[in-house]
Amino acid sequence: MKEIKKIGVMTSGGDSPGMNAAIRSVVRTCAFYGIESAGIYRGYQGMIEGDFIELNARSVKGIINKGGTFLKSARSKDFRTKEGRKEAYNQLVKANIDALVVIGGDGSFTGALIFNQEFDFPVMGIPGTIDNDIAGTSHTIGYDTTLNTVVDVIDKIRDTASSHNRLFFVEVMGRDVGHIALNAGVGAGAEEILIPEEDLGLDRLLESLTRSKESGKSSSIVIVAEGDKIGKNVFELKDYVEENLPEYEVRVSVLGHMQRGGSPSCFDRVLASRMGVKAVESLLEGKFNLMVGLKSDKMTVTPLAKAIKGQSKINKELIRVSDIMSI
Ligand code: F6P
Repeated sequence: MKEIKKIGVMTSGGDSPGMNAAIRSVVRTCAFYGIESAGIYRGYQGMIEGDFIELNARSVKGIINKGGTFLKSARSKDFRTKEGRKEAYNQLVKANIDALVVIGGDGSFTGALIFNQEFDFPVMGIPGTIDNDIAGTSHTIGYDTTLNTVVDVIDKIRDTASSHNRLFFVEVMGRDVGHIALNAGVGAGAEEILIPEEDLGLDRLLESLTRSKESGKSSSIVIVAEGDKIGKNVFELKDYVEENLPEYEVRVSVLGHMQRGGSPSCFDRVLASRMGVKAVESLLEGKFNLMVGLKSDKMTVTPLAKAIKGQSKINKELIRVSDIMSI
């Protein structure tokens, strides 16, 4: 393997709080080991267009506390083509970049793996997505911040829900998985949590809401993951519940992209800092095609292929806890 003298770092896919802290960590670790680093703007699209910036330890000052990603992010259609990837490779060679650190999620890692297979280019993944839907790590960068944001917002919604004796359906992000819904739901004391992994069913939802009313609850919060498979979106759910349980006055709140913004939590800053160090050190040890991860509070590496194909499992214990808590 060619000696690594310069590492390119980029953020790709949906942004997440803590991505800046991860870029900072990659750049500073490179500086620590006396190698160069370059930032690649707008993910794979910027790679194809050669939109690079030389970075050094000082160019990443003052960003550990900033949400989003200063390198910007994108989902590139061109990189899905062989010609696009060839052009990206040419641009990396022209800029003397010897290895790549990709901060992103499943789609970004799939791109990285194909790129490695085609051009034998060393790649390393850092999991950055609010969804926490990556196998090989207990936490992805941004997930913790998002949970705190969601819990904070639901606390506020609960104030108005209880003042008006209302039922709220709150939709949270999670295209394919229910990690945000389940954890924030337990943390915020939701009555029911609808996630893609478990089909609660409309009948059970009505039963549960009827039970809540009978047990003396005057207001309720139901969290719905956006990828939930109950067969109705939050607005249809509102209509359905109002038709079947007219005693309920229902409102809907779709939290949307506010969940992806904001200053990263301490947990995410620390995680991002650890992952950046591990990613660069692994590359310098001649290891690549891996994703760094957190397991039992230890930094680990997992083959990228496994991280992509593996399913991040929902914590069933939390479902039970939620059921017991909503008595
Ligand atoms: O992948 C993270 C995520 O926030 C998903 O939960 C959500 O479905 C998606 O991104 C939204 O993507 P976009 O910002 O492209 O609409």
